[in-house]
Amino acid sequence: MSKTGALDLASGLGGKIDKTQVLSAVEKYEQYHVFHGGEEEERKANYTDMVNKYYDLVTSFYEFGWGESFHFAARWNGESLRESIKRHEHFLALQLGLKPGHKVLDVGCGIGGPLREIARFSSTSVTGLNNNEYQIARGKELNRIAGVDKTCNFVKADFMNMPFPESSFDAVYAIEATCHAPDAYGCYKEIYRVLKPGQCFAAYEWCMTDSFDPSNQQHQKIKAEIEIGDGLPDIRSTRQCLEALKQAGFEVIWEKDLAVDSPVPWYLPLDKNHFSLSSFRLTAIGRFITKNMVKALEFVGIAPRGSQRVQDFLEKAAEGLVEGGRKEIFTPMYFFLARKPPSESQ
Ligand SMILES: C[S@@+](CC[C@H](N)C(=O)[O-])C[C@H]1O[C@@H](n2cnc3c(N)ncnc32)[C@H](O)[C@@H]1O
Repeated sequence: MSKTGALDLASGLGGKIDKTQVLSAVEKYEQYHVFHGGEEEERKANYTDMVNKYYDLVTSFYEFGWGESFHFAARWNGESLRESIKRHEHFLALQLGLKPGHKVLDVGCGIGGPLREIARFSSTSVTGLNNNEYQIARGKELNRIAGVDKTCNFVKADFMNMPFPESSFDAVYAIEATCHAPDAYGCYKEIYRVLKPGQCFAAYEWCMTDSFDPSNQQHQKIKAEIEIGDGLPDIRSTRQCLEALKQAGFEVIWEKDLAVDSPVPWYLPLDKNHFSLSSFRLTAIGRFITKNMVKALEFVGIAPRGSQRVQDFLEKAAEGLVEGGRKEIFTPMYFFLARKPPSESQ
């Protein structure tokens, strides 16, 4: 079962970081970002440290608020957040044409919520690739509980340099993960290498849209809030991602920002003006209660020192995401389906 109690939140806070080092890890993490004088090149050069610190610090907050899947979803009227999250995952399985027996790679798999859902939905074997040790430990436990541990596994490695031979997988997908790459081309090229010829890669990318104006200070502030709040070196544009895919050798079958036609905005669960009982912990009131609970747990020594600071940058993320979504300058669901061309003999 997912760890979603207040004490689980406190005990998981910091991930693999020693509890006495959480505050200094928060300080080091913050220094990577614009609001604390950090620069893009430094974030890119130190992406492994920056991203791993981020996920060690936030994973128990994510599990507390989101459950097992750490991503947004396009949503229909009348659909619950949970239903939309699952449908968003099923959509990838459908687009990739997954069939029983296929060997699939989930790039940047979190604690494996989508992996378990897609494996059960499509009767496939899914390998979850993740560079965060704490998340892999949580994922293994959850796979065992769900009963998919015989057919699905986790590999701890960097998606910029994967420990798989070329042409290993029948399909590859990535959900809101490759945005952490210091360079999209390097990451897509590696995915291209491990995919079998003639097979497909599908993803939801975090991107700045064509409405983003780099000379607009407010737009830049929103971008920086999302970067600090979500552990990102630099948010690329949809055009840059598309270009990088083609450069890596993929044929792009189709691509679209799925946020554009979503009847319910993807950022609604975090919007201050929205209230929902079923996703209460994500709402402004829910977050306010969590903030005070974390403050109390830190005060009495149950949560490590620095815990409130984590909640603070997550709050910044929520503000940036909602504003970015409202202004349509940012999307967490730039979808593409791309194919590695068949080999000469196929
Ligand atoms: C927002 S989470 C999404 C997780 C998962 N796809 C989901 O939807 O639940 C991003 C994930 O990418 C992983 N990640 C980030 N950089 C990585 C890297 N260089 N190599 C492998 N995994 C990475 C993180 O550890 C995290 O699990």
